[in-house]
Amino acid sequence: TLTQAEKAAVVTIWAKVATQADAIGAESLDRLFFSYPPTKTYFPHFDLSQGSAQLRGHGSKVMNAIGEAVKNIDNIRGALAKLSELHAYVLRVDPVNFKLLSHCILCSVAARYPNDFTPEVHAAWDKFLSSVSSVLTEKYR
Ligand code: HEM
Repeated sequence: TLTQAEKAAVVTIWAKVATQADAIGAESLDRLFFSYPPTKTYFPHFDLSQGSAQLRGHGSKVMNAIGEAVKNIDNIRGALAKLSELHAYVLRVDPVNFKLLSHCILCSVAARYPNDFTPEVHAAWDKFLSSVSSVLTEKYR
């Protein structure tokens, strides 16, 4: 679980990220598919070319969900319950992929806000994304 200081760091960086959430979401997916091509197999029905409308739309949905998790940072499990069932039972995304996407989101945020991305913010944001991933993969067990 996140300490109070880590929660505060997440809320602070999110205030910036939220203003460019759609662009950051699309960039994170671009990075995911470019660096880890096997992840594309989950999206056979998508146009995955850089900046496509589907990719941007999906990036926006992903970042919205992350925003919900930030808003409910003391109850991420409750906030993402529906999404957890979707990813486990319907989409059956292999949990390793959550680490890859989290890494890409981390990179996109770091690249956009280099001055805000202190070691403390880096660690807190990384831990927060791990919590989100844990919630989204826990139904597999
Ligand atoms: C759908 C969030 C990780 C594959 C979705 C949706 C959201 C979401 C909000 C839309 C749900 C809806 O339309 O009701 C997230 C978050 C993630 C995550 C917050 C982790 C931080 C992943 C990963 C993969 C993946 C790692 C696979 C590499 C998919 C697929 C869909 C989906 C295939 C359905 C797309 C469609 O047909 O529209 N996700 N997701 N997700 N997600 Fe994830």
